[in-house]
Amino acid sequence: MANLRTETVTEVHHWNESLFSFKSTRDMSFRYKNGHFTMIGLDDNGKPLLRAYSIVSANYEEQLEFFSIKVPDGPLTSKLQHLKVGDEIYISHKPTGTLTTDNLLPGKNLYMFSTGTGLAPFLSIIRDPEVYELYDKIILTHGVRTVDELAYREMITSQLPNHEYFGEYVQEKLLYYPTVTREPYQNQGRLTDLIESGKLFQDLGMPPLNPEVDRAMVCGSPAMLKDTCKILENLGFRESRHGELGEYAIERAFVES
Ligand code: A2P
Repeated sequence: MANLRTETVTEVHHWNESLFSFKSTRDMSFRYKNGHFTMIGLDDNGKPLLRAYSIVSANYEEQLEFFSIKVPDGPLTSKLQHLKVGDEIYISHKPTGTLTTDNLLPGKNLYMFSTGTGLAPFLSIIRDPEVYELYDKIILTHGVRTVDELAYREMITSQLPNHEYFGEYVQEKLLYYPTVTREPYQNQGRLTDLIESGKLFQDLGMPPLNPEVDRAMVCGSPAMLKDTCKILENLGFRESRHGELGEYAIERAFVES
């Protein structure tokens, strides 16, 4: 397949029995925007078996990083979860996607609503220094079932605010809101319910969502996307589509997956 290159796995981290992340080498000719996804995969009896994955690493980093669920009978993830350092993976050199800041009308605050591995594209965006110039507040929400699914929490809450170049901006502008649905936790409930009840905004100290000043990106399961988009549409947010910029964006490549 055209544009398919091979990279080597350099690090594997298992968050729990159902989630893991891994890093690979990066050919620096591979360029992408923060928020983009690309096709990655493994060799399957002489043929590449590929799936769309958001790129977790920021586009200036020397290694690529991906965040994945482990599906026991998933064609790719059942194999991918056994990756070891030194293994080879395929990476398509044709990244693309709509969860990028240039796919939204300019705004004051950027909301990123994610559940599960839908967090992935936003991890590159919150490490993009430019995003801190574009917005007053950057709000990253992550909804999961159990506390051990709150992957990258340590990176977001401890490492980023101390980043040597833009840690100060992170401290001033990034608001992180993890919420758990099936265990006790400081924030509980589905993001959709927290938006509708207004609790999310009370907890964050933010005014209610307003399409005049707020912009949103949504990434999660098809059901979460559908329900969140419906709420946004009812509030007057329009989706960026077919090159026409709106107040919110989703990744259509993931909607039917
Ligand atoms: P819940 O535990 O109530 O199902 P999943 O692993 O199924 O993708 O779920 C990840 C998180 O997203 C869970 O906290 C789950 O809550 C939540 N979730 C599932 N469906 C929706 C939805 N339609 N809207 C908002 N959140 C959802």
